[in-house]
Amino acid sequence: MTLFTHLYLLLHVFVALSWDRQTVSTDCDGGWQRNNCSPVQEEERCTVERRDASITYAEFIEQYAYIRPVIIRGITDNSEFRSLCRKEQLLQTYGNRNIRLSTANTYSYDKVDVPFQEYVEHFLTPQDLDSLGVDTLYFFGDNNFTEWGSLFQKYTPPPFKLPGTMGAYSFGIAGAGTGVPFHWHGPGYSEVIYGRKRWFLYPPDKTPEFNPNRTTLSWMLETYPRLPAAERPIECTIRAGEVLYFPDRWWHATLNLDTSVFISTFLG
Ligand SMILES: *[C@@H]1O[C@H](CO)[C@@H](O)[C@H](O)[C@H]1NC(C)=O
Ligand SMILES: *[C@@H]1O[C@H](CO)[C@@H](O)[C@H](O)[C@H]1NC(C)=O
Repeated sequence: MTLFTHLYLLLHVFVALSWDRQTVSTDCDGGWQRNNCSPVQEEERCTVERRDASITYAEFIEQYAYIRPVIIRGITDNSEFRSLCRKEQLLQTYGNRNIRLSTANTYSYDKVDVPFQEYVEHFLTPQDLDSLGVDTLYFFGDNNFTEWGSLFQKYTPPPFKLPGTMGAYSFGIAGAGTGVPFHWHGPGYSEVIYGRKRWFLYPPDKTPEFNPNRTTLSWMLETYPRLPAAERPIECTIRAGEVLYFPDRWWHATLNLDTSVFISTFLG
């Protein structure tokens, strides 16, 4: 990443962190952002390959499935699901339901149940720079499929499965600057419904330098700038309409650049 793009990204996160709490409801951001909805198209470092919807299943299997991550654009149309994920809509449907939050450290120890409305009003705030991952509660996964099933039915997952696997969804919403620090698991997809999510990845044999108790934001601000070029992650930002595929056991950390609504499809 050049110094320019690095500063640019930082600026982005800080702008996101400093927005006031006013909520502007618009169609383009689903009511989740605190600013207006003209996303800046920054020239940023993206070292994940990007493909459009013309990619075939054979190409996916041969070039990526077991080898490297890829971002695919426009492979599905989730506009109906997106509109159901607008802030007002979700609050109306799920406001009183409990959701399970996890701490945002690598080995997610703690779980806390709160009503969805309370999460949106009190927890969905920008990441505090000084907090540890263990002190940051994050809504991602642990979804109650009985309660959320009718919403997830409207989601169209990426069409390319790995032979012998099934997809399992993990849905979440998180504030600007939040994210999960480096960890790994099986293969899958990540899609952003609202907002932007930056991804940092390393192949399975290249364990990154990181403190599992610290947030991705602190890693990006403190560790990332010191990395020699050869030690940098493979990285990119995904936006609505893009899915990122991560192969089995690849290390990854995520950073939500905006308040983001997102869903993963784990292939297991
Ligand atoms: C999921 O939701 C259903 C219906 O509200 C409830 O009965 C059940 O206890 C919930 N499951 C968990 C694990 O919380
Ligand atoms: C992370 O936190 C755990 C639990 O508090 C502690 O035992 C461990 O030493 C910490 N690890 C690092 C690398 O700071």
